[in-house]
Amino acid sequence: MRRFLVAGNWKMHGSSEMTADLISGVARRAFDAARLSEQKELSYDILVCPPAPYLGQAANHSESLPIAVGAQNVSQHESGAFTGEVSLAMLSEIGCEYVLLGHSERRELFGESDTLIAEKFAACVANSSASIVPVLCIGETLEDRQSGDTEAVVEAQLDAVINKVGIAAFDNAVIAYEPVWAIGTGETASPEQAQEVHAFIRAKLNGLDSAIADKIRIVYGGSVKPSNAGELFAQKDIDGGLIGGASLDVDSFSGICEATQKLIENT
Ligand code: 13P
Repeated sequence: MRRFLVAGNWKMHGSSEMTADLISGVARRAFDAARLSEQKELSYDILVCPPAPYLGQAANHSESLPIAVGAQNVSQHESGAFTGEVSLAMLSEIGCEYVLLGHSERRELFGESDTLIAEKFAACVANSSASIVPVLCIGETLEDRQSGDTEAVVEAQLDAVINKVGIAAFDNAVIAYEPVWAIGTGETASPEQAQEVHAFIRAKLNGLDSAIADKIRIVYGGSVKPSNAGELFAQKDIDGGLIGGASLDVDSFSGICEATQKLIENT
């Protein structure tokens, strides 16, 4: 049974105060809900991905809490003359455990190509001392979906990475399916629409390595809220969420964590 992952991508939002308040608030609410549960402990993972300046603070603040910290981006290079870039070793040193790769905003607004994203993924795999888990974000645009190209687009994004690093490299990775048309729009993929693509991704991986396909967490992102999280995460191949807007507020992010807790209790 895969462990759910509830991840917050803060994008370029936040402050030092918010970092402290959100981590404390979410941890408290998650603990409270878990204490009341049959399991008596948190049986899913929580991840926050604040902007780079707050990563060290977030990691220190969450040290004794069941909340992991991830970066929103990383350089493909180890070190050198790369003004403005941050390396995996640096992220690891300050306590990051995950990194988002290839978010659609990075692809669209900053021109990140499939090739570059594959290089970043390869850097995560190569740098075993940093041991940072890549969260590979993939997803189609509205135009892709309307022209019936969803599976082809998602497959090409996946293939670009698999061809570079090999399927074995997905042993310690997360995939986030984020349909671009559902990001920040308030429009969510229906549970059936999301499940269909998640199942396609898992079947594709299954064709290459069934153990990895079975184990890998595929999370959904795109207007996840407390009101729709339970139904989305209840789908067979959806193992949690990557949440944008609703991860910026203790109540809404906790609501999603609580929906996850409830789902675990009822299954
Ligand atoms: P929203 O939850 O704001 O739609 O953002 C999703 C997202 O981009 C997470 O990475």
